[in-house]
Amino acid sequence: MLNVADLKVALDSDAGLVRAIDGLSLCIERGQTFALVGESGCGKSMTALALMRLLPENGRITQGRLDLDDVEIFGLPEAQMRGIRGGRIGMIFQEPATSLNPVMRVGDQIVEAIEAHTALRGAAARAKAIEWLGRVGIPEPERRIDEYPFRLSGGQKQRVMIAMTLASEPDLLIADEPTTALDVTVQAQILDLLKTLQREQGMGLLLITHDLAVVSGMADWVALMYAGQIIEVAQADEFFREPKHPYARLLLEALPDTAKRGETLAAIAGTVPSLSQTFTGCRFTPRCDRAFEACPGTPPDLYELGGRSVRCLLYRGEA
Ligand SMILES: Nc1ncnc2c1ncn2[C@@H]1O[C@H](COP(=O)(O)OP(=O)(O)O)[C@@H](O)[C@H]1O
Ligand code: SF4
Ligand SMILES: [Mg+2]
Repeated sequence: MLNVADLKVALDSDAGLVRAIDGLSLCIERGQTFALVGESGCGKSMTALALMRLLPENGRITQGRLDLDDVEIFGLPEAQMRGIRGGRIGMIFQEPATSLNPVMRVGDQIVEAIEAHTALRGAAARAKAIEWLGRVGIPEPERRIDEYPFRLSGGQKQRVMIAMTLASEPDLLIADEPTTALDVTVQAQILDLLKTLQREQGMGLLLITHDLAVVSGMADWVALMYAGQIIEVAQADEFFREPKHPYARLLLEALPDTAKRGETLAAIAGTVPSLSQTFTGCRFTPRCDRAFEACPGTPPDLYELGGRSVRCLLYRGEA
């Protein structure tokens, strides 16, 4: 359904040109959850914003194409793009407070989305909005529909945000760290809700997170990002059973797990490199426990390994 090919995004900054995304390709089928995972600063949000054509003013797409079924999104005039955004592609963010209009009743915001993107109008749209509030787990939706966002908790605001976004029945939902701002119990509830609605609606879900624990049990596919590139793509069960990239292995070893409780967690030393530099070799070299002579001077390709892909020179010969 969604196909991103060789996407590159650059932003102007005081430190020079930031190459936030450097050749990203991915493919999401209807009804699938595709997780995009990586440490802060690796380019996840820029990917989401580029797909929505909502990059900040100092940023631009310098290469690539995006196909949603038979529509090439990057080539569309902005007027048509406005119909796609919030229509066929919906997006929810980390901070629901900034996405909800504080001076508008929550029901009116959902009704607005319904009237803009479905055939329902007036009382029928309002009834649909109440139904959506119920579906996302807001108690007494008939009453809560007329409240303002400030009356709701963080978790409830995120539920309203989900209702508002899904009410327009998108083919694809992009969720950028949808639960990061919420406490752990509410996080789990919201993720369950997203998974249920994704199945019911048969939509594609691009789930963006820095937290691998969030991905297991949610995703069909996992793409791990590092420094503006995808470095491993695999079906989720294979990825968690046997991660291939050294970074993926280190991340999974560092995941809290009950068997290891009490032991010191394996933290990954070092930080994500700045994306304003020119890279001459593998971007993970300074932090890699498997690095060898070739790594600092040879940029690895994404090598195909039987249904999965890994960007690491260790797999160069196997591809
Ligand atoms: N408004 C901006 N202007 C310039 N550079 C930015 C801006 N926002 C983010 N960046 C840079 O783009 C890169 C990718 O950022 P981002 O996509 O936000 O990462 P993530 O969502 O994975 O944490 C980072 O190097 C970040 O410093
Ligand atoms: S290419 Fe070298 S440095 Fe990069 S991940 Fe593979 S082994 Fe590590
Ligand atoms: Mg982000």
